[in-house]
Amino acid sequence: MKKTQRLLAVDDEAGMTDLLRRVLTAEGYSVTTCASAEEADGVLAGEPFDLVITDLVMSGKGGEHLVRRVRDEHPDTEIIVITAHASVDSAIEVMKQGAFDYLRKPLLPEEILHAVNRALELKGLRDEVRALRREKENSLHGKILGRSPLLQRAFERLRRAAHTDATILIEGESGTGKELFARAIHGESPRASGPFIPVNCGAIPSNLLETELFGHARGAFTGAHAERIGYFEAASGGTLFLDEIGELETVLQVKLLRVLQEGCVTRVGETQARAVDVRIVTATNKNLLDEVRQGAFRQDLYYRLHVVHVVVPPLRDRREDVLLLAHAFLHRYTEKYRKSFSDIDPKAAWILQHYDYPGNVRELENIIESAVVTGRGKVLRPAHLREALGEDLFGEVVGDSEDLDLPFAEAAGRVVERFERSYLEAQLRRFGGRINRVARAAGLSRRTVERKMNKYSLERRNFVPQGNDAAVDP
Ligand SMILES: Nc1ncnc2c1ncn2[C@@H]1O[C@H](COP(=O)(O)OP(=O)(O)OP(=O)(O)O)[C@@H](O)[C@H]1O
Ligand SMILES: [Mg+2]
Repeated sequence: MKKTQRLLAVDDEAGMTDLLRRVLTAEGYSVTTCASAEEADGVLAGEPFDLVITDLVMSGKGGEHLVRRVRDEHPDTEIIVITAHASVDSAIEVMKQGAFDYLRKPLLPEEILHAVNRALELKGLRDEVRALRREKENSLHGKILGRSPLLQRAFERLRRAAHTDATILIEGESGTGKELFARAIHGESPRASGPFIPVNCGAIPSNLLETELFGHARGAFTGAHAERIGYFEAASGGTLFLDEIGELETVLQVKLLRVLQEGCVTRVGETQARAVDVRIVTATNKNLLDEVRQGAFRQDLYYRLHVVHVVVPPLRDRREDVLLLAHAFLHRYTEKYRKSFSDIDPKAAWILQHYDYPGNVRELENIIESAVVTGRGKVLRPAHLREALGEDLFGEVVGDSEDLDLPFAEAAGRVVERFERSYLEAQLRRFGGRINRVARAAGLSRRTVERKMNKYSLERRNFVPQGNDAAVDP
């Protein structure tokens, strides 16, 4: 199905715009006309065009202005310039600025059609290449790694829902991969060649968020010099990803609900609604149902949003994924920073697998990135992680993994030593440093207790409660 291509014809002579409209409409194009560059500016801000065809010399801003504007702000739009003054120099000048072609007046219908068809044909090819490249980028960067059943299940749910237009709510702790999932849904959906527009509802002040989402008319408020299309309209044909939806203010919740119910948006300062064709995916690291119960989030909106509901599990609940991810990140950052890491040694792997990752996959990624940046060598070792995690965290995780370097008997001996030390400490504390009581409770001789205290440098006086005379019961 070929969609109708939209053309904008600009000329201050009505005869010329009439001619263009007649010729191009007959060819099946949808044609909008403007009598000045200023008027065209406004129209361009409001809707997308495939091609602009403009006179070069007009009263007010000339065609050159439009050429620059289109080049800078609408890179997907082609532009053809018409000139009456047959000045080849100025025509070449505008071609350099980014015009696709130029035509000389008087215009013949065949000439117009030939130029327009050719421009749009090339544009089609370019769009295709761009879409392919985007797809390739998506599949490289947007790949979801994980073999844990928990993640596979979440992904399966999303894959099935992706093919519909159902609204999807993704819940998960920070850094679990919610945005990655949202991009994957878009990539797997029939809308994949359309835009994917992410909006962080928590990061934009709510008065601004309203015009960003819905757009505004010219003069809707002080400072609104030109009209502006909102994210809903920009995402038309594609997916709008509303991140941190839990942060959305009540007023905007009402407006969003209306869009979902009616399928159209009204720009701020306008009264007429415009139809939009968007798929909505939302994400939050809050429990949205709790927010509903506390009255912070509208219940009706909640039910609209969670038609399909997916929870991305925290990394500590799917430790099977840690090494897979770690290796992928190691590879990614080794290439990026031109280092030579190619493997992770068993002890480093053990440490990675035993850490809790409050920041989930993003934290793991940061740890590996920082280890790669600051470290050297082919194999990632605990020393690299010590730097990346920081001394305190490293110590907390590592605990007994140092023993992995030792033969079994020695490693077992270390474990026994650690046990003896903490056992004695606990008993000494319990009996306020009274060794006879400790010996009796432990079923050991007093001599053995003293020998072990010596071995572990445990001093009796450190366990005697303050103010108690140490002489009571040695
Ligand atoms: N399963 C995965 N496979 C590969 N990379 C992942 C995976 N999950 C997350 N990542 C990576 O971890 C980082 C964080 O992911 P993302 O931004 O999607 O998380 P998020 O849940 O949106 O976090 P936040 O709530 O903080 O916005 C990204 O760089 C992403 O590429
Ligand atoms: Mg996110």
